[in-house]
Amino acid sequence: MDFIKVNPQYEKHIALIELNRPKELNALNRQLMLEIRDALRELDEDDNVRVIILTGGQKVFAAGADIKQMADATAIDMLNIDQFSTWDQIKKTRKPIIAAVSGFALGGGCELAMTCDMIMASETARFGQPEIKIGTMPGAGGTQRLTRAVGKAMAMELVLTGKFISAQEALAAGLINRIVPVELLLDETLKLAREIAKQSPIAIKLAKEAVNNAFNSTLDEGLVFERKNFYLTFASQDQKEGMAAFVEKRNPDFKGK
Ligand code: CAA
Repeated sequence: MDFIKVNPQYEKHIALIELNRPKELNALNRQLMLEIRDALRELDEDDNVRVIILTGGQKVFAAGADIKQMADATAIDMLNIDQFSTWDQIKKTRKPIIAAVSGFALGGGCELAMTCDMIMASETARFGQPEIKIGTMPGAGGTQRLTRAVGKAMAMELVLTGKFISAQEALAAGLINRIVPVELLLDETLKLAREIAKQSPIAIKLAKEAVNNAFNSTLDEGLVFERKNFYLTFASQDQKEGMAAFVEKRNPDFKGK
C-alpha cells in the first residue's frame, strides 16, 4: 500500500484506514482508491473487525479526485478507465465505516466521506463540491448523496457555486454527526466506533443494510425489507444473548454468531 496505512486491529474490533498522500492533500488518484477498495474488502471479510474508521489525519481529509491525473483524459478514456466501479465496490462494504474528517473534504473527498456511514468532523473541517470551478461536476455521487443529506437548496448552491461550508454549517444541514476539537477527532471517533463495536455485528450489518435501503425504495418496500432483516436477527445467537442479558440484568456478550 503506497497511499494508505491500514491497521486492522487499531483497537479490539476496530480497524483504521488512514489516507497517506500528504503533499497532494490526499488527492484521490486511482491507485489510492484501489487501495481503499482492497483494504475495505479485506476488513469486511475479517471476523475480528466490526467497525472501520477512515481518516485523512488532522490536516486534511482529501482535496478531491486527482485533477492532474485526469486533466488530459478524453471522455472515452474516462469511460474505459471506469474509475467509479471502484467506488461501487467501496459502497458494498457491509460493516459500518465512520469517516473522521479534519480540514478539506472536497469533491471526491466530500463524496468519499459521504460514501461512509457516518461523519465525525473536527472544527477545521470544510466540505464542498468545487468541481464546477474546474469545468466539470461531481461524478462520485456528489449530486445524489449531498442532495439526500442536506436537501435540494444547499446541494444546488454547493454544486453550482463550488463554495465550501464549515463544520458548523455541515452539522446544521445534517451532513455530519458531530464536531469535535481537532486533537480529539480520533478519540471521539473511537468512542462512537466502540459503541457500535460492542453490539451484535450481525444486527449491525442487517441494520446498516436496511437504513441504506431507505434511499433506494418506496416506504412500503423499505418496510418489508426492514421486517425481513428484523426477522433474520432472530436466527442469530446474538439476539438470544441480547434478550437473555436484558432479562438477567447483565451486559450482553455478542459473538457475531
Ligand atoms: N488533485 C491533484 N492535486 C491536488 C489536488 C487535487 N484535487 N488538490 C491539491 N492538490 C495539490 C496541489 O496541486 C499542490 O501540489 P504542488 O505543491 O505540487 O503544487 C498541493 O496539493 C497543495 O495544494 P495547494 O498548494 O493548492 O494548497 P492550498 O492550501 O493553497 O489550497 C485547496 C488547498 C483549496 C484544497 C486547493 O488545493 C484546491 O482547490 N484543490 C482542488 C480541489 C478540487 O477542485 N477538488 C475537486 C477535484 S475533481 C473531483 O473530485 C471529481 C469527482 O467528483 C470524483
